Amino acid sequence: MASKLSPLLLRTAARTASSSASTSSVCRAAQRVVAATTRAFSASASRRSDTLMVHRNTPDNNPTLPFKFTETNEKIIAEILKRYPPQYKKAAVMPLLDLGQRQHGFTSISVMNEVARILEMPPMRVYEVASFYTMYNRNPVGKFHVQVCTTTPCQLGGCGSDKIVEAVKEHLGVHHGGETTADGLFTFLEVECLGACVNAPMVQINDDYYEDLTPESVKQLLTALKEGVQTGDSSKVPKPGPMSGRDTCENSAGLTNLTSEPWGVETTRQDL
Ligand code: FES
Repeated sequence: MASKLSPLLLRTAARTASSSASTSSVCRAAQRVVAATTRAFSASASRRSDTLMVHRNTPDNNPTLPFKFTETNEKIIAEILKRYPPQYKKAAVMPLLDLGQRQHGFTSISVMNEVARILEMPPMRVYEVASFYTMYNRNPVGKFHVQVCTTTPCQLGGCGSDKIVEAVKEHLGVHHGGETTADGLFTFLEVECLGACVNAPMVQINDDYYEDLTPESVKQLLTALKEGVQTGDSSKVPKPGPMSGRDTCENSAGLTNLTSEPWGVETTRQDL
């Protein structure tokens, strides 16, 4: 209501201001009303993504670089396309982009253009998908893509993701998201919920989840990955999953309920 009155008050104030100096107080009152009724939606600073949402041509990522799917991947593409009616084959854009990323190492502009050609889509439609989903790396990443979840459950669970981020940055010597270590082995990124909240805090490294982390265990993990590359023996790399020793997301204190034999139907329904 106040905002609807504001123009009226301003007009009235302007009219009366010319006829009498005493009405200048009316103008000031009207200005106060306007000031009181206009405010920003949010006072908090906007948080920007670690990834630039536009493409900039670089020597290793520009449309003049050729990209073709391998023969094996072409067979996989043929299989994927069978899942969709021919007129809707553009629905296969996500699996094809993923395949391109796995083959090329990242989703370059040439990968996107090739997917657009295969699916007969305007390239812009493919760019929109690739730039919306953070799982598509539109710039080269290291051998190990270290994605630390920093959404609320991971911030609050266990030691908290802030400590994990700090430990990863310190161990790798990186300072901001998207940065790759000098040896090209690790790229660090902060990401939103990865769906393993019950085992927080966690990190995704390439396709694997490592959960129930502590600053010490995440450093051990990164060291083991690096040594695995240097020695060619990755047997010391911990297996994916909880690093606390618990099985999947079971209670770490052991079973506290459902400890007896489950009832059979004969207990509740003798007649069945
Ligand atoms: S909040 Fe981290 S996995 Fe869900």
